[in-house]
Amino acid sequence: MSSKPQDPTFLDSELRPSTWSDYIGQKAIKNNLKILIEAANARGSAPEHVLFYGPPGLGKTTLAHLIAKETGRALKVTSGPAIERVGDLASILTNLGAGEILFIDEIHRLNKSIEEVLYPAMESGVLDIIIGKGPSARTLQLELPPFTLLAATTRVAMISSPLRSRFSGGVFRLEFYTEDEIAEILRRSAKILGVNIEEGAEKEIAKRSRFTPRTANYFLKRARDFAQVEKRILNKESVEAALKLLGIDEKGLSPSDRMLLHTIAEKFGGGPVGLSTLAAALSEEEATLEEFNEPYLLQLGLLERTSRGRALTEHGFKHIGKPFPKNLQKKLL
Ligand SMILES: Nc1ncnc2c1ncn2[C@@H]1O[C@H](COP(=O)(O)OP(=O)(O)OP(=O)(O)O)[C@@H](O)[C@H]1O
Ligand SMILES: [Mg+2]
Repeated sequence: MSSKPQDPTFLDSELRPSTWSDYIGQKAIKNNLKILIEAANARGSAPEHVLFYGPPGLGKTTLAHLIAKETGRALKVTSGPAIERVGDLASILTNLGAGEILFIDEIHRLNKSIEEVLYPAMESGVLDIIIGKGPSARTLQLELPPFTLLAATTRVAMISSPLRSRFSGGVFRLEFYTEDEIAEILRRSAKILGVNIEEGAEKEIAKRSRFTPRTANYFLKRARDFAQVEKRILNKESVEAALKLLGIDEKGLSPSDRMLLHTIAEKFGGGPVGLSTLAAALSEEEATLEEFNEPYLLQLGLLERTSRGRALTEHGFKHIGKPFPKNLQKKLL
């Protein structure tokens, strides 16, 4: 292992794949993007606008950086909450060079009036600026150089349909990864970090990683720390011990996931319970539950979303070692 001190943010960007071949999985998206890019290159034009959505840590930001690297185009990065005024967006757009890529992260947090300025920019490459106020106000139309907008969101339902429909290059949903894909990502990360991991140990991390690369890399680093401090090698046993110490169970549920399941079971008779009531009972933000905890619990089939709220499934009860209330199934129908 290298002995020079390493900055954690530096490490994070170091683990971020910068070529198509290092970007594991998401085959359908990769294939579509490659065609989009190749066709645009052949026509000598900028690729059309693309939106990525899906739970945190699945590789949306990584894809944006990857597209820029692979196409050799400059990338400007901003985010929904950072664009506070129409003027902020206008200055970002007018400062783009021809063929450059603009990446707007968390685009669901862009406010409506700014969104409306984005429409003509995306559609016809023009910027409508209103100068002055009241009866003397005039509209000035500026022509923008051709550019590609890439955007990402964890909450696609919050994207208005006019905005969504302007992503003419495609709207892509990132899928959870398979265990094998996560194991492959971990082997690559271990190599970059200079960590010796015994064969098979990466599978133990993969199993508990919420099918999510960011979580997998985080666990790898924590397991590496554990092995280093305990002077152990990184094998199946030490990985298990390290993750147990973090409160991660054999299905990869964190203490907050289990608390959510317990709360629905114990305080709300298994559900259904509305998101805001649940968030209040857990003293947690609704957005955190919705974006981070729920997708994985739904994917595992431990939780279900009904029109009247969230409910625990039979599997969910089993996972926390409680009997499934017989009347619950009826209540959900
Ligand atoms: N397909 C992949 N192959 C290898 N590593 C990946 C892949 N996707 C993501 N990663 C790793 O996971 C980390 C998190 O990915 P990224 O930041 O792109 O997620 P995100 O979808 O933008 O998440 P958020 O919604 O929280 O912004 C990356 O730094 C990278 O190391
Ligand atoms: Mg991101």
